[in-house]
Amino acid sequence: MSATPQTRRILSGVRPTGPLHLGNYHGALRNWVELQYQYECFFFIADWHMLTTGYEDTTHLQQNIRTVLIDYLAAGLNPGVATLFVQSHVPEHAELHLLLSMITPLGWLERVPTYKDQQEALKEKDLATYGFLGYPLLQSADILLYRPAFVPVGEDQASHVEITREIARRFNHLYGREPDFEVKAELAVKSLGGRNSKSYKDLRRKYQEAGDVESLERARALVQSNNRITVADKERLLGYLEGSGVTILPEPQVMLTATPKVPGLDGRKMSKSYGNTIGLREDPDEVAKKMRQMQTDPARARRTDPGTPEKCPVWDLHKLYSDETTRAWAYEGCKTAGIGCLDCKKPVIDKVIEEITTMRKRAQEFEESPELLRNIISEGAEKARESARDTLDEVRRAMHLRAD
Ligand code: TRP
Ligand code: SF4
Repeated sequence: MSATPQTRRILSGVRPTGPLHLGNYHGALRNWVELQYQYECFFFIADWHMLTTGYEDTTHLQQNIRTVLIDYLAAGLNPGVATLFVQSHVPEHAELHLLLSMITPLGWLERVPTYKDQQEALKEKDLATYGFLGYPLLQSADILLYRPAFVPVGEDQASHVEITREIARRFNHLYGREPDFEVKAELAVKSLGGRNSKSYKDLRRKYQEAGDVESLERARALVQSNNRITVADKERLLGYLEGSGVTILPEPQVMLTATPKVPGLDGRKMSKSYGNTIGLREDPDEVAKKMRQMQTDPARARRTDPGTPEKCPVWDLHKLYSDETTRAWAYEGCKTAGIGCLDCKKPVIDKVIEEITTMRKRAQEFEESPELLRNIISEGAEKARESARDTLDEVRRAMHLRAD
């Protein structure tokens, strides 16, 4: 059993709103695919979160979960490397959510910016519900349950990771206390053994006196890699670094994904709510057709009118998909009216279709085998539950919900 923060662990997820699109791919999935080979990764599908706004009509939920799972696999997430699972298959999320709800001040939830923003944006829905207010707290439970070091998300989710940190801090403050903490912590330092014990002290001092974060990280690594001390001592040593008490739920850090601008077909940001998306596994002929009609610089009404690439969403796609030579050709051709918009679009259409075709190929075996999908998802849930159970055991014990 491990009860320490996992320095190499990552967790992230999306809501199953429907088929994922190229904006999701370039803004998140592509990055996850790389991260899965560098970290221990947990990627999940947040079906309970879907209910917070979509509780009225849940008929397509299963279908959407399946679509997103295949999209994950199509994008290159590898179930042999990363743990892929569905939130509601791991009921521990719900229990941690409930326990955290006891210590979460209403004001914290009310002032999360997405609360009011989303209520504004989705005016036609009644979002004055208990569940919707708890959206960020459910997300905190999702995260803290796995004690990840990092949560890769876009800017829009940063406030949710921030409240997760605040809740972890509050939890540790309330339940990470024990009588004689200092005495026990000092004993734990000794039990690290000669050289390690000295390094721990040095690093702790550097962090506490000079706020040196690198020393903090190194000290944490030193504690985590030590297999001879008890779990309880590990928690004490980690908590002692920051002086607060035992750390039961470590604070995760946001890992902001550098999100390239992915324009939708109408030139606005690609987003499902604008209906301007190109799906990850959409039919290539359809995609080509839609892209030929895609918005361009309005100043180029006629073929002979020169244009300004910076005012054209197709140019953003060139930045994403084209090599330097092609970009220079498009740029010049646009400014001088040397090429037409359809000429200009051709190489990006080709690239997009190439990308989509790769994903469609990867998806095929999964589309054809419900059995294979079922196995992936049940193995994922099993693996996720192992970690989740450990955390929840610690949480229950810290809250005196268990006798031992
Ligand atoms: N709120 C996230 C979104 O809309 C989805 C999500 C739920 C999530 N729980 C999470 C993301 C935990 C990261 C970590 O995209
Ligand atoms: Fe856009 Fe290319 Fe047309 Fe210029 S030539 S307006 S960059 S599509």
